[in-house]
Amino acid sequence: MLIDGHGRKVDYLRISLTERCNFRCQYCMPEKPFSWVPRENLLSFEDLFKFVKAAIDEGITKIRLTGGEPTLRADLDKFIKMIYDYKPDIDLAMTTNGYLLKDIAKDLKAAGLKRLNISLDSLKPEIARLIAGKDVLENVLAGINAALEAGLKVKINMVPLKNVNEDEIVDILEYCKDRGMQVRFIEYMENVHAHSDLKGMHGKDILEKIKEKYQIEKIGRQGSSPAFLYRLKDDGYVFGLIDPHKHDFCDSCNRIRLTAEGYLIPCLYFDEAMSIKEAVQAGDIDKAVAIMREVLANKPKENRWSEEASEASSRAFYETGG
Ligand code: GTP
Ligand code: 5AD
Ligand code: SF4
Repeated sequence: MLIDGHGRKVDYLRISLTERCNFRCQYCMPEKPFSWVPRENLLSFEDLFKFVKAAIDEGITKIRLTGGEPTLRADLDKFIKMIYDYKPDIDLAMTTNGYLLKDIAKDLKAAGLKRLNISLDSLKPEIARLIAGKDVLENVLAGINAALEAGLKVKINMVPLKNVNEDEIVDILEYCKDRGMQVRFIEYMENVHAHSDLKGMHGKDILEKIKEKYQIEKIGRQGSSPAFLYRLKDDGYVFGLIDPHKHDFCDSCNRIRLTAEGYLIPCLYFDEAMSIKEAVQAGDIDKAVAIMREVLANKPKENRWSEEASEASSRAFYETGG
């Protein structure tokens, strides 16, 4: 079992497979050109799998693949199958922008993927283009359909932004409700990489928009999820709000993150990280596990996120996978 320095059980590993992305979302990526980490710096699937096996043996029961955009990695389905074959009952999920899903959703499901969280910030082509930096909506919607048809459990993530997509909160809620998908509205988290002129929405204002049309009731947080759940009184549809301004989910935090370059990060907003790359590449898995235990021993009690895009929030979302 993996226990951190504050007595929390850690059983959820989020693995960023690449920091590269085919989108340039305003809330995630810089406006100015920047360069990617060279591909040869990334951990290979073979090396990653060595670590994943050890992590599962140590008590990890939930793995989420993230990015950047994880579907940009070739042979993604083979990697998923490696994990699934090792531990078929693992909760194996992925967070994606959905752009490439329409052609691969079936293969990912067949390989053993169980759940997908897909970002959907607008149902208007021009607003989706404004946020993501290119024409994305048609592909994303086709990707969502393909995922549902393949039998994957799908949740939708929306980041409401003032004067951009705030008028679509109810539309997106209804789009998800009609398709049996849970939507989670995520408060924009300021960070030094994002476009500078963005204004996020506070959770209570997001709820106000929904309350203009629906009566809602609180459910609460479930398990270690950062999402606070609400129910529509009418028909019982459940949606979530992820509010990083609150630290109340840190008490039950169960996660550790691994970047594509092999850095283990104990918390989304915590710059100290330790690399397992050398150990894994040398085949010294015991050392990699020892590093993981050290990182967990130093996991902070709560995130250091602040509303100002400060040093404490300097790690990029496209590097950590959110
Ligand atoms: P499930 O509960 O398994 O569906 O997934 P998830 O909510 O852990 O995964 P997802 O990748 O969809 O994450 C949604 C968002 O939650 C992230 O982009 C972050 O904005 C937020 N989030 C996830 N983990 C943390 C965390 O440890 N700290 C903070 N502050 N926010 C988090
Ligand atoms: N604030 C809030 N959410 C963000 N995401 C990416 N960057 C930010 C940010 N600055 C979300 C994406 C995706 C999830 C993994 O992280 O919308 O759904
Ligand atoms: Fe890519 Fe996700 Fe960042 Fe958008 S939020 S640019 S889809 S990594």
